[in-house]
Amino acid sequence: MKIEIAEATSLKGKVTISGSKNATLAIMACSILTDELLILNNVPNISDVQMLAKLLREVGIDVVYLEKKHKMYLRKKKLKIRLQASDVKQIRASYYIMGALVAMRKNFKTCYPGGCDFAKRPIDYHLEAFRKTGYKIIEKNNFLFFKKQRGHSQNQNFYLARKSVGATINIIYISVLKNTSTIIKNPSLEPEVMQVITLLNQMKAKITILDQDTIEIKGVKKLLGTIFDIMSDRIEAGSYMLLACAAHQSEVRIENIYLPHLREVIQTIKELGVSIKEGKNYLELKKTFPLKGIEKEIAHYPFFPTDLQQILTVVCTQAITTSILSDEVYPNRLSHLLEIQKANGKVKSFKKKIYIEPSNLFATTLYAHDLRCGFACIVIGAVAKGITTIENAEVILRGYEELTNKLQKLGIRIKMK
Ligand code: EPU
Repeated sequence: MKIEIAEATSLKGKVTISGSKNATLAIMACSILTDELLILNNVPNISDVQMLAKLLREVGIDVVYLEKKHKMYLRKKKLKIRLQASDVKQIRASYYIMGALVAMRKNFKTCYPGGCDFAKRPIDYHLEAFRKTGYKIIEKNNFLFFKKQRGHSQNQNFYLARKSVGATINIIYISVLKNTSTIIKNPSLEPEVMQVITLLNQMKAKITILDQDTIEIKGVKKLLGTIFDIMSDRIEAGSYMLLACAAHQSEVRIENIYLPHLREVIQTIKELGVSIKEGKNYLELKKTFPLKGIEKEIAHYPFFPTDLQQILTVVCTQAITTSILSDEVYPNRLSHLLEIQKANGKVKSFKKKIYIEPSNLFATTLYAHDLRCGFACIVIGAVAKGITTIENAEVILRGYEELTNKLQKLGIRIKMK
């Protein structure tokens, strides 16, 4: 799939933000942990959600997705595990299916998850936790064979060497249904992890944040069904906010957002010199002056999110002074630099920092290596002189609902072919 996008002299209009991709993916997998019905509201219609629904069906979950209503019904029938390697490899979040099946003490065969491959993305913390909870995992012919062992120790503590969203959630899954307590040290407490904890506690789990460094999980016998509203996607919101900053001029309203999750993004945008008016669940951005260069450390929440680093890099090419970014979470998330350079952008990476000089971008053919690199290419297209073509554009649909429609509402001329 290709996108063609023309330079936009000014952006004007409003965008309504959808439900959070990464919260939805983790929450859908919770359907494996209960025999009762799980009803989700505000589920975004994006290809990653469709793919996870397919994988859940492959393990015996009945999934009904009313796309227009953004409503999903999930109910476990009988776990019958027939995971297709080609599907597992499509999406990163297939590791949540591993965690939930381990929680249910199943033997199964799967493979390494795929998805956005912007950097080395190991799952060693996940596998170590599964082994510690009493599983033998054998790797053979690119498959992973999960075999439960007898007599595994129940009372366990886990320490994560790095804060990991996926590993924290998977350790929660494998601990909620035990008959003892578990402690996770150095967990990720990103808003998406907090959503999963809120949902599971609503399903009658007993998960407590003891302090910013410790989660305690007291095992329960069973989890109940529930109805749950997925929160708004802070990364989608941040993407459109940053697009409004990069544009030559803009007057944009972003609706259906939860402002506390966006504090550092708002602060960064103010540092760039764009004015922001805050409402209860909306923001209004107005760009009339050229941007100032910034220095920004990208780190775990509440710092500026790694998922917006690539898009922020493009924004910084439009500043009148040099910017320096450093991404602590994924220092090698750099697929976008080549694309910015193709468009005449002066960017380079040196000793885990990204240096960005003021640049006049020109339209050319770009390649969306991964989801966020794809949105970064859209931002290049909106500011570069001429008509930009973006190849491999389907990866952008993994995480952005109604992409072309939302961009057109801001006055961007865009076509998907
Ligand atoms: N890490 C390891 N070993 C592991 C797990 C993580 O070394 O077993 C390292 C990673 O290499 C990385 C750091 O720990 O340096 C944090 O990675 P994390 O595990 O938090 O990433 P993830 O759970 O695989 C989720 C999101 C990503 C987002 C990251 C960081 C989902 C499905 N994915 O990935 O979202 O970038 O957390 O916030 O929730 C995206 O939406 O574009 C996206 C890539």
